[in-house]
Amino acid sequence: MAEPVDSVIPDDEGKEKFKKSDNVAFYRRQIQGPSLQHRALLDTLVLTENRARFELLEPDTQNRLLLSLSPSKCGTVRIIIDELQPIKARYRVPDVMTGELQCEQLRMERQSKESLTLSWASGHHQVRVWHFPFRLEILCGHEALVTFNPKGKLWFEALQDPPSELQEEEHTSSLWTETFRQFVDIKANGPSSVGADLCLHGFRHVYGLPEHSDNLQLKDTSDGEPYRLYNLDVFAYELYSRLGLYGSVPLMVAHRPDRTLGVFWLNASETFVNIQYSPTDQQEDRTPPVKRRRTPTQTDVHWLSESGVIDCTVLLGPTPQQLFAQYAQLTGYQALPPLFALGYHQCRWNYNDEADVKEVDAGFDRHNIPYDVIWLDIEHTNGKRYFTWDPVLFPEPASLQCHLEKKKRKLVIINDPHIKVDYGWYLFCEARDGGHFVKDREGQMYRGSCWPGVSSYLDFSNPATRAWYSRCFSLDKYKGSTPSLFVWNDMNEPSVFDGPEQTMPKDAVHHGGWEHRDMHNLYGFYQHMATVEGLITRSGGSERPFVLSRSFFAGSQRLGAVWTGDNVASWDYLKISVPMVLSLSLAGIAFCGADIGGFYGDPEPELLVRWYQAAALQPFFRGHSAKETKRREPWLFGQEITAKIRTAIQQRYCLLPYWYTLFHLAHTSGLPPLRPLWVEFPTEQNTFTVDHEYMIGGALLACPVTEAGIQQVKVLLPGSADIWYDVNSAKAYKGGRTVSLPVTLDTVPVFQRGGSVVCRSAGSGSCTAVLQQLPLSITVALNSQGCADGELYLDDGHSFKYRDRKAFCLRRFDMLSGRLLCRPASSEGAFECDTVIQSVTIMGVKSRPSTVTVHVSGAEDTSATFEFTETCCKLTVDSLELRVAADWEIRITG
Ligand code: NOJ
Repeated sequence: MAEPVDSVIPDDEGKEKFKKSDNVAFYRRQIQGPSLQHRALLDTLVLTENRARFELLEPDTQNRLLLSLSPSKCGTVRIIIDELQPIKARYRVPDVMTGELQCEQLRMERQSKESLTLSWASGHHQVRVWHFPFRLEILCGHEALVTFNPKGKLWFEALQDPPSELQEEEHTSSLWTETFRQFVDIKANGPSSVGADLCLHGFRHVYGLPEHSDNLQLKDTSDGEPYRLYNLDVFAYELYSRLGLYGSVPLMVAHRPDRTLGVFWLNASETFVNIQYSPTDQQEDRTPPVKRRRTPTQTDVHWLSESGVIDCTVLLGPTPQQLFAQYAQLTGYQALPPLFALGYHQCRWNYNDEADVKEVDAGFDRHNIPYDVIWLDIEHTNGKRYFTWDPVLFPEPASLQCHLEKKKRKLVIINDPHIKVDYGWYLFCEARDGGHFVKDREGQMYRGSCWPGVSSYLDFSNPATRAWYSRCFSLDKYKGSTPSLFVWNDMNEPSVFDGPEQTMPKDAVHHGGWEHRDMHNLYGFYQHMATVEGLITRSGGSERPFVLSRSFFAGSQRLGAVWTGDNVASWDYLKISVPMVLSLSLAGIAFCGADIGGFYGDPEPELLVRWYQAAALQPFFRGHSAKETKRREPWLFGQEITAKIRTAIQQRYCLLPYWYTLFHLAHTSGLPPLRPLWVEFPTEQNTFTVDHEYMIGGALLACPVTEAGIQQVKVLLPGSADIWYDVNSAKAYKGGRTVSLPVTLDTVPVFQRGGSVVCRSAGSGSCTAVLQQLPLSITVALNSQGCADGELYLDDGHSFKYRDRKAFCLRRFDMLSGRLLCRPASSEGAFECDTVIQSVTIMGVKSRPSTVTVHVSGAEDTSATFEFTETCCKLTVDSLELRVAADWEIRITG
């Protein structure tokens, strides 16, 4: 049996390990292939209650396809194309769409020999189908928004019977077998790729398609590689690259000043996307505006996938908010995390033993730095057998968890999808006997190498395997686990050290006989799903789970958090973390972050501080470092650095009431906490390419410093009618311009938008459970009309009672005409809570008030003492004891 693998970079062969699009046969076939001439057979149209269906014919190949079209009530149009009579079923991605959509009844508007037009009840949208050459337009009024197949790139390789051996020799071998380096891929179904092009009219900015280490706005791919969606374990990935990383979300978001639109390509096989902008960048730069008008503005997009069917949903927006809601209805809302998961996480590969864990935990208390979770990497196990503990290093795991739990802190352990092949280990035997492993194409248990050495891989696509794996997390089965243990799924692309591109061969076979090729990008999603199920079941359905996954797909937001994998301790990786998390956020994966400090290498103290400051303003907040790196707990770099890291973490904790409220919003509306500026300023063109600053909710604009030795940063403050308040100085700035802000290593540029109310905790506590007991302070930032509003969401922070018993409290603050009101934001919800508001700060108060009066329903008015700072027009009312759950009012008289 092979020895366990020890190194950070197993057998690294560098870039050569991974394919470029040139190396991929189906991509070459489609790009170089003949141009096909599909016809829509309009007389085959059938309108049913919830869809339209008609046939497509390609005369040369005589290929017949069936297109089904279904608009939904929430503003999406789904186009599915399959073979009319496939010799066997083609893979359709299960379990990603939530099935919540209600479809619209279509009716015939107009019909001729050339085209037919269909409409439906809601909105002004129509679909026009052209007979020849076949194209399908989605119209709003008379304007075409999207054209499907405008350039005739529709491609559908019909399944065929395998050729006889003789014929095979005549074949270009890549149809049935394909070789990359030493790896031979034998394709059980032969060529089965699909592809289609779409034109997005009037759009010149598209985003999404994570995961890539690239800018937020997707690039024109005409002179380079296409964006690749193929989940891979890429250690220390190259920057500004379109090659595939750990996860994939095939959602593209297009934006123009009057409309946001989405294209969701539901396919889990290897996928490429080409993008072409018109006018081109050169035309935009050089052509005088008058001439430019002749080139219509549009984005051409070409999707190509290795197998499955075409399942393409257009999300019609038109606002960014509506688009997020539509996408959430398709693939699910962000899970509401337990509050602790939004706190700070301390991880390292590895904390050596129980004493080490206790020492690090105590270090946080000693240095007065809040944190919630400490993490154990692979070395905590007995020989990389997940669900076990190293008997020498972690002999008393349950009492370790009790030790942490006494301080209301949690432990997270890693649990990867590969299982050590060990005939003497009950868990391996159970999985084998239950038929829970992926098979090779000969029907034997597939074997590949990973941390434990020779391993087999659980087939999470099998519901029975998911159920079995979930049960492994039950407290009685998982020895040494307690309810305060949570989970980290890593290496789940899956990573196979001796596999092609360091992953599973495409000809491996899953439940139902499907090839790995069909569902590769779903593997991590399914492990994440099974783990989440396990944690929920462990608590009898009462507690919210927390599971971090490295690999993901569309819909992973329903399950928990993801992170951006093996980054590097350098300024460039800190910088790219911002567009990477923004791109994930746009594609629904709202709970995301990057390893603080950079996983690989040793950050200098300045970089580490800047990384903490930036990450404190991102959703998932975890320090992590690789095995060979130096220790880097926050207090190891001298008092000054410790103080700066402490401040960054404390400020994150103070802002948690706001973050939690934003997560509630993501959970109920689909709107992500992190938003590119254009989401909040959709008509302002100068925000469309900004990806180093962003909004946290609607109220805060963050511009983390990601360069060394900087003394000044330039911050674009959008909205010419807006006022922005520096959260540190309360200084007001007019929007619609770029300001230069002097910075020191203590400064993190964050601005509050005039018109908003933000709730913070008055202190940071030692962890989130302590934070929940602390009073709140409210910051009201007035807009030019003297108004502001905001919300606050509270619940117990850990259970499903908010959902099952409506045990939550959603409050609204409104400031208008010198009165600040606290009222319920929704008639739903009842939550016993004693939380009080201790202070109210109002920024933008023009002159010193004469009195401030507090009115609480059912009590007499009292006048409050206040402080007014003339230089920055800031009014602070302190020593309040206003229950957040009660209705009250503060009146300011001039
Ligand atoms: C790869 C992960 O990306 C990294 O975070 C982890 O520490 C190592 N695997 C070891 O488990």
